[in-house]
Amino acid sequence: MTAPAFQAVLLAAGRGTRMRSGRAKVLHSLLGEPLLENVLRAVEATGPAAIVIVVGHEAARVQAVFAGRGEFVLQDPPLGTGHAVLSARTRLAKTPDLPTLVLNGDLPLLTTATLLRLLAAHRERRAAATLLTARLEDGGGYGRVLRDADGRVRAIVEAKDASAEVSACREINAGAYVFETRRLLTALDGLLPQNAQGEYYLTDVVASLVERGLPVEAVLAEDPGEALGINTLQELADINRLLRERRLVALMAAGVVVEDPATTWVARDAVVEPDAVLRPFTLLEGRTLVRAGAAVGPFARIVDSEIGARAQVLDHCLLRECRVGAGAAVGPFAHIRPDTVIGEGAKVGNFVELKKTSLGEGSKAPHLSYLGDAQIGPGVNIGAGTITCNYDGETKHPTHIEAGAFIGSNATLVAPVRIGAGAYVAAGSAITEDVPADSLALGRAHQVRKAGWAKARRERRAAVKAKA
Ligand code: UD1
Ligand code: CA
Repeated sequence: MTAPAFQAVLLAAGRGTRMRSGRAKVLHSLLGEPLLENVLRAVEATGPAAIVIVVGHEAARVQAVFAGRGEFVLQDPPLGTGHAVLSARTRLAKTPDLPTLVLNGDLPLLTTATLLRLLAAHRERRAAATLLTARLEDGGGYGRVLRDADGRVRAIVEAKDASAEVSACREINAGAYVFETRRLLTALDGLLPQNAQGEYYLTDVVASLVERGLPVEAVLAEDPGEALGINTLQELADINRLLRERRLVALMAAGVVVEDPATTWVARDAVVEPDAVLRPFTLLEGRTLVRAGAAVGPFARIVDSEIGARAQVLDHCLLRECRVGAGAAVGPFAHIRPDTVIGEGAKVGNFVELKKTSLGEGSKAPHLSYLGDAQIGPGVNIGAGTITCNYDGETKHPTHIEAGAFIGSNATLVAPVRIGAGAYVAAGSAITEDVPADSLALGRAHQVRKAGWAKARRERRAAVKAKA
């Protein structure tokens, strides 16, 4: 369901002073996504005619992260939430007939359903402004919503400007509003920064509309959690914990085995199929997909990767942007780097690093190898300690190892090089030339044997010692 035409303004310019961090508040991470992402997705799903994002602090980075998701407007310097909306004045004035939905950028739990309720209430009650409120035991640092004797919204008073009596008020402003755009712009033009923080408060627009006899309505959030704003790193950590737990509860309800929910972390966009097993200390980041019956961990970190059905990622592995085929095994202690494909039933063992490499079906690299820029066919055995020398100091070169080849331990394959199907490379070889199919390549010094040498040496030493 989407709402009739409206435009949205997202406030993302604030310094986030209370975070005490150089990074823009809206870029801090919530379950692996920047904080603003939640509000942005909630809004996108309501189908606005336009999304305007007000940026200021770290504007270039915020703009880069959310490129293509809205029209950016610069607020420089940030002088308050009212001033932030004023920065979008020219843009909003182009479409003054569309109501404007204004959202703080730091609302991690706000949902599309609540936004649709807010928009519907605004339309039905023909209000000049409609705000989302919540009832809390303790209003803390939130703006308090004041009502008159008839229960009509009169004003919002910021916590820092509130008397003890006003502070006791339990209805707070969530930081999500719908305004009739012409009314909003007129009221914003009259704002003054006369308050404890010396800022232009968007919240002052409410009293200004009421003074003009215009109707201001409020919608109470069914779940007060939706009004939660993030102002400190402690609050960010608390919400992260909550979201992490919710995510795991949902996965378990869908049949995913989470052995230790206290130490497991699954990103918002990661997908885990039923009957997958997540062992303790497992992190699934980005757009990772873990298929049914796969087991991951303990101590595994998987980023933007696909783990095939019944595959195993064992202890202490790091995988990024790779695909692990069905029934394959990786680890313990493997590092799988981007653009790697591990074939069905293949095996990558301990202390093996793969980069931009495809390992064919049923192939094995069980111990201590670096395989980079390599195309490895099916049924290949890579002996312990095999290294592809893919870099000559200037460029990277490919290695091809065809089906069924056998690479002996400690082989050095100097790329570009091709090992033909079914060929053997002797252990300890430095291979600099292609090896034809079904042949044997030896690339090492011939062994020299000196009979009795060790014994003679021992006897010489013993004689020297006896003299001394
Ligand atoms: C604001 C509200 C308060 C409400 C609370 C809900 C005002 C004056 N107060 O307070 O009533 O209870 O949200 O969480 O609006 N921003 C800008 N430019 C600025 C300042 C802020 O873009 O100059 C952005 C911030 O990046 C943030 C949002 O506006 O996303 C809210 O700013 P914040 O400083 O967190 O407002 P609060 O003090 O929490
Ligand atoms: Ca806030």
